[in-house]
Amino acid sequence: MADNIHPFQHRVARSLKEQRNSHKSKVLWFTGLSGSGKSTIANATESILHERGMQTYILDGDNVRMGLNKDLGFTAEDRTENIRRISEVAKLFVDSGSVVLTAFISPYILDRADAKKTIGGGDFIEIFVSADLSVCEERDPKGLYKKARLGEIKNFTGIDAPYEEPVNPDLIIRTDKHTIEECATQVVEYMLEKKIIKV
Ligand code: ADX
Repeated sequence: MADNIHPFQHRVARSLKEQRNSHKSKVLWFTGLSGSGKSTIANATESILHERGMQTYILDGDNVRMGLNKDLGFTAEDRTENIRRISEVAKLFVDSGSVVLTAFISPYILDRADAKKTIGGGDFIEIFVSADLSVCEERDPKGLYKKARLGEIKNFTGIDAPYEEPVNPDLIIRTDKHTIEECATQVVEYMLEKKIIKV
């Protein structure tokens, strides 16, 4: 814990960056099982926002775990630390004027509540990317469910580690009922409805 820390008030404030961008900065926090489609929907959503000239950035599970969080595994403690660091990074990106799209399982209600607290309630949009476990397991894009069932991977979310569904998410996206483009459009429509972006 460092002492004698004095935060500096920067001249180019977030509000000026938002003004220049003509949109607000927010975090779209996608949560859901492995294989539910978080990265896919975040990617498709980012494409639409980018096309609209918006400043965006995706923070993605596997990518962040190859760098910043490569010291972390999948125990409950490590997942909590994973989400804590990501929340802090997302907060910095929000301050830079970006719309941040995060794609992490983030299986614990408490960790997501802490993320919301860190980022700020008004800037945090919780999006539950929902698909039945059986559908995710059938998709198994990385072959990990198969390994988990064989006991080759321990603590796998949905198999021998929990996923706590959001109780009151801002948005639920059913990837087992809609196409990728329909799902992304639902996110964009939500942003229009909440006036985060303009028509
Ligand atoms: S989280 O639980 O800490 O939020 P995160 O989203 O960063 O997880 O990483 C999940 C990705 O790591 C999965 O999509 C999968 O590719 C990989 N993975 C490897 N081992 C596990 C595991 N035991 N449980 C879940 N995902 C795992």
